[in-house]
Amino acid sequence: MALEQSLPPRGEKPEFVRAGFAEISAHYDRINDWMTFGLHRHWKRQAVRGLHLQPGDRVLDLCCGTGDLAYLCAAETMGGVTVGLDFASEMITIAQSRTEWCVSEDRPAWVRGDALRLPFPDRSFDAATIGYGLRNLANVREGLSEISRVLRPGGRLAILDTGLPHGRLIGAVHRFYLLQCIPALARLVHGSSEMYRYLASSALIFASPEEISQDCAAVGLNVEEIRQFLFGSSVAIFAVKRR
Ligand SMILES: C[S@@+](CC[C@H](N)C(=O)[O-])C[C@H]1O[C@@H](n2cnc3c(N)ncnc32)[C@H](O)[C@@H]1O
Repeated sequence: MALEQSLPPRGEKPEFVRAGFAEISAHYDRINDWMTFGLHRHWKRQAVRGLHLQPGDRVLDLCCGTGDLAYLCAAETMGGVTVGLDFASEMITIAQSRTEWCVSEDRPAWVRGDALRLPFPDRSFDAATIGYGLRNLANVREGLSEISRVLRPGGRLAILDTGLPHGRLIGAVHRFYLLQCIPALARLVHGSSEMYRYLASSALIFASPEEISQDCAAVGLNVEEIRQFLFGSSVAIFAVKRR
């Protein structure tokens, strides 16, 4: 099947994505664990560590899903505020009910909202994370611009998302894994592969870290570091809001 057939028409992307995540919410964590062999937990820890959070920090986790990153941030910012935001209320309901990642007394607050229209004033956060959410936005640069708006000058951003491994052989294996194995796994666990075919295709056409860095620069975010995991199949980009 051509990649384009798994992708929604441009204007329909937000509703396609919201409804898709609502539909897979109950199996999202299990499929994540299985398809990354649990490695996504390590990558998320690395992303949060790279933010150098301090006690008392105000942190926003955009596209928080079931809340992994928000819980990790809350554990680092004792006495601070962590807000997880997502537009799929089914994902937020699961995030709210989780306890296994909650190692701190400070639980995140959860907000149902659109990452492209954040319901927060300018400069209201010290740090932000967006894990595997950026490529799901209808407009990457608009999303980054909103993040830049709500970060204080000097505030830090960690973007975690998919990347493309370098090298022909590993690239071909990665493509086969995304397009064949993950949909098959989703069919087995969830009974349908449609959303995971979209997620696989969107990973293959997503902007490179260099292109994302250019978008960051255009909205006032200086990229300081790009870290690649598992041959570059997952990427963490760390940026700082210009003063
Ligand atoms: C792949 S999941 C990532 C969840 C979590 N951050 C993680 O790393 O496991 C992407 C999430 O982004 C959310 N999302 C996508 N577009 C959004 C938007 N415009 N506003 C808010 N949430 C959005 C989806 O509902 C979904 O929960």
